[in-house]
Amino acid sequence: MVKTLLEAKKIWYKYPAMDQWVLKDLDISLEKHKVILVTGPNGAGKTTLILILAGLLEPQKGEVLLHGKPLKQQLPQARRYIGVLFQNPETMLFNPIVYDEIAFAPRQLFDNEEIIEKRIHSVLEQIGLNKEYLNKHTFKLSYGEKKLIAIASIISYDPEILLLDEPLTNLSRKYKDKILELIKNWREQGKAILIASHDIEEYINIYDYCYILRSGKLFENCESLQE
Ligand SMILES: Nc1ncnc2c1ncn2[C@@H]1O[C@H](COP(=O)(O)OP(=O)(O)OP(=O)(O)O)[C@@H](O)[C@H]1O
Ligand SMILES: [Mg+2]
Repeated sequence: MVKTLLEAKKIWYKYPAMDQWVLKDLDISLEKHKVILVTGPNGAGKTTLILILAGLLEPQKGEVLLHGKPLKQQLPQARRYIGVLFQNPETMLFNPIVYDEIAFAPRQLFDNEEIIEKRIHSVLEQIGLNKEYLNKHTFKLSYGEKKLIAIASIISYDPEILLLDEPLTNLSRKYKDKILELIKNWREQGKAILIASHDIEEYINIYDYCYILRSGKLFENCESLQE
């Protein structure tokens, strides 16, 4: 049985300063055990779609439903179900020390620092990062390291829906493979995953559905439209 966790219905969105709609009457459903890949040219609206699905931007028309009910009415509590990886990890990290960055979300959910510490060590292991990273300054990390810590900060609270904006960009092969493995495991566990990326090839063995976003709409069979 298909279980939809998050869906967008008839979404219309434009930024206040723009004349043109970025998204036009767009529908999408994120289901348990499924990975959706959304590709499309620069400026097509992939990041915008992720921000709308996460409840961080509000569409002018249409609605986003989490577990069948309007997401808007379930915020901010609903944030624990949705993990968002921003395209630019620099906009995600806000704690000075890596440990606190990864611990931030679990600290909102659990009261026990021992449990939190165990989680953090398990997260680092899953990504393949050395535990020496925990004491590092987030602001001094390289761009790729920032991306990995941003991913760690999402894994740490185990959301059931993952919205990943270019999760592999700027990562070396070793870490790309780790993240791809993680995505496969999440899919098996029953999470609903949306990846926005230009890099269709990387996800060819992972996605269940692939769409191209163009002129504000999603088109199926993105491989055939690849530029
Ligand atoms: N805050 C903003 N204010 C005004 N316009 C914006 C804003 N953010 C994005 N846009 C515009 O909205 C459109 C969609 O942008 P978006 O970032 O969603 O595209 P994208 O598909 O993610 O592109 P990329 O592949 O380069 O990441 C673009 O024309 C962009 O210039
Ligand atoms: Mg983008």
